[in-house]
Amino acid sequence: MIVLGIETSCDETGIALYDSEKGLLSDALFSQIDMHIDYGGVVPELASRDHIQRVLPLINEVLEQADISKEQIDAVAYTRGPGLVGALMVGACIGKALAWAWGIPSVGVHHMEGHLLAPMLEETPVAFPFVALLVSGGHTQLVQVDGIGRYTLLGESVDDAAGEAFDKVAAMLGLDYPGGPAIARLAGQGVEGRFRFPRPMTDRPGLDFSFSGLKTYTLNTVAKCREEASDKEPTDQDRADIARAFEEAVVATLTIKCRRALQQTGMKQLIIAGGVSANQSLRASLESMVEKEGAVLRYARPQFCTDNGAMIAYAGCQRLLAGQSDGPEVVPVPRWPMEELEPVS
Ligand code: KG4
Ligand code: ZN
Repeated sequence: MIVLGIETSCDETGIALYDSEKGLLSDALFSQIDMHIDYGGVVPELASRDHIQRVLPLINEVLEQADISKEQIDAVAYTRGPGLVGALMVGACIGKALAWAWGIPSVGVHHMEGHLLAPMLEETPVAFPFVALLVSGGHTQLVQVDGIGRYTLLGESVDDAAGEAFDKVAAMLGLDYPGGPAIARLAGQGVEGRFRFPRPMTDRPGLDFSFSGLKTYTLNTVAKCREEASDKEPTDQDRADIARAFEEAVVATLTIKCRRALQQTGMKQLIIAGGVSANQSLRASLESMVEKEGAVLRYARPQFCTDNGAMIAYAGCQRLLAGQSDGPEVVPVPRWPMEELEPVS
């Protein structure tokens, strides 16, 4: 079965073709980062308008890349939610219209399920069950995964998502959106041990997260550096040291909670997914933790950690193969708990 995947939940138009027998055939992405950069974050209306212009040309691009014709596509998978409602509407309307015109089924995919299953696009096998750490711009969740659609939430952020905290701290340090990669680069120039930031909620039991206090702590440190500087601006070294301390605190916190989740569930496989899972320090820290726990760590290649069409095509394909598909109505779901998903046995 060849599935066309369409991802338009936020600021990236991702399109891909996935073949249930041959694997990923092609994928293409247009990132709107340059368009939103001046605003310091995503402007929803601009995002929707841009998706409208990108989807069809990118579909032609993936067809060309894979050297197949549109008649060979068996089904369409699009992101139904969660995400920005206007942006979701674009992918859903185009996906469903194409499916209707081509006389093939369509299926609406949960964006976070797409992220969660993205490591399965890699060669190293991932088998159920496992613990997943989902870390994106909108979500920070630990989930027990017993199969596709069989999700038990173990813990989540009570305030900001990890990616959101990266983005906000980046703005405090005068770095461009998206903040995660920018902080990671700057942290590389920071001095280890100059600052030690708190590891929120690690001193009490449980698997929930909180990043807003860490954000305030960072803001206060920036203010202190500003006070101490002769020109009342933090120096480049101050900024790098703060980026390093912030990244270290997030990584240490996520690592502690992942270890706890593995111990609590007795599972020996940890999957990390979502934009923040591209972070190299996080991967290194989790690698050494799982080794001590006798477990393994799996993740997707960096371009499939952030938003992309391949994960939607893959997740949609699994649901279609299990006989699931949509009715004719277009119903984007901006807020959608993953536990409400139907299991695929
Ligand atoms: O999964 P994603 O592409 O979109 C959402 O579903 O939200 O995640 C985007 C988030 C942004 O907050 C971005 O700053 C963060 O992932 N991110 C990173 C890195 N790359 C992307 N955070 C830390 N380190 C990175 N290398
Ligand atoms: Zn995402």
